[in-house]
Amino acid sequence: MSQPNRRALITGASAGIGRAFGMELARRGYDLVLVARRRQRLAQLAEEAKDEFGVTTQVIVADLAEPGAPMRIRAEADAPIDLLVNNAGFGTSKEFLDTSWTAHETFLRVMVHAPTELTHLLLPGMLERGSGHVLQIASLAALLPGAPGNTLYAAAKAFMLRFSESLAAELAGTGVGISVICPGLTHTEFHDVTQTRDDLSWAPESLWQSAEEVVAEALRAVERNEVVRVTGRSNRGVAWLMRHLPPTLSRSLLSQRR
Ligand SMILES: NC(=O)c1ccc[n+]([C@@H]2O[C@H](COP(=O)([O-])OP(=O)(O)OC[C@H]3O[C@@H](n4cnc5c(N)ncnc54)[C@H](OP(=O)(O)O)[C@@H]3O)[C@@H](O)[C@H]2O)c1
Repeated sequence: MSQPNRRALITGASAGIGRAFGMELARRGYDLVLVARRRQRLAQLAEEAKDEFGVTTQVIVADLAEPGAPMRIRAEADAPIDLLVNNAGFGTSKEFLDTSWTAHETFLRVMVHAPTELTHLLLPGMLERGSGHVLQIASLAALLPGAPGNTLYAAAKAFMLRFSESLAAELAGTGVGISVICPGLTHTEFHDVTQTRDDLSWAPESLWQSAEEVVAEALRAVERNEVVRVTGRSNRGVAWLMRHLPPTLSRSLLSQRR
């Protein structure tokens, strides 16, 4: 009898890195559970993955800012989930006090609360089966305090980084892994949503990766059970610098306003 396909649940699958995860995981024979708010985009990806690679697909329309969303996703998702990709996210552009608390709360729900809760909800099944992996999409921004306008973004990504590194220690020897990846500038819709594309006109193409490149490196990290991976050679250079700069110098560099 042939083995059933493994199944991946990807949040933020309607665009960018999440969409690229969907196509690449389907190519590798994963059945897909695709989560985001835009139904039509998800349905289109589901069709493409089914047609090209013959995998089973499920679409769950959910706003991760809603407190009940992770529980509903767990209840509706076909089981078992072998790979959870916590990818959904967006950026910030205004300074801390120029943004309403309601907007901050929405941000923290999507970027911190939902991925942490989904991890809490889906890990027990993986542990019961003695296999599975959680993949968190953090950012290079997790490695240093944010520049003005990036206050909660850097903090949220740093939370995901530390949370995942800590959880890795608890999962050691269980057969279940966790990886957190830190991409730098990536060609997606992210900077259009955040309206920060013009601020990045200084960045040479050598600092950018495609979503497909990020996904290939992330899945390599999963295969190797690497806990933390900064994607892209130039980003690894930046990360090295960030780790070695004296904190006072990095803070003063980052405090420059755009
Ligand atoms: N692009 C970069 O330069 C970069 C760099 C480092 C890290 N990252 C991280 O990579 C991840 C993916 O971003 P991306 O670059 O692929 O951006 P993107 O192209 O804008 O895609 C973001 C995805 O997140 C989903 N999403 C946003 N808010 C959501 C909500 N409330 N509920 C459910 N889904 C939601 C969007 O779907 P809907 O709008 O359909 O809901 C979309 O599928 C993010 O966590 C981001 O922080 C990006």
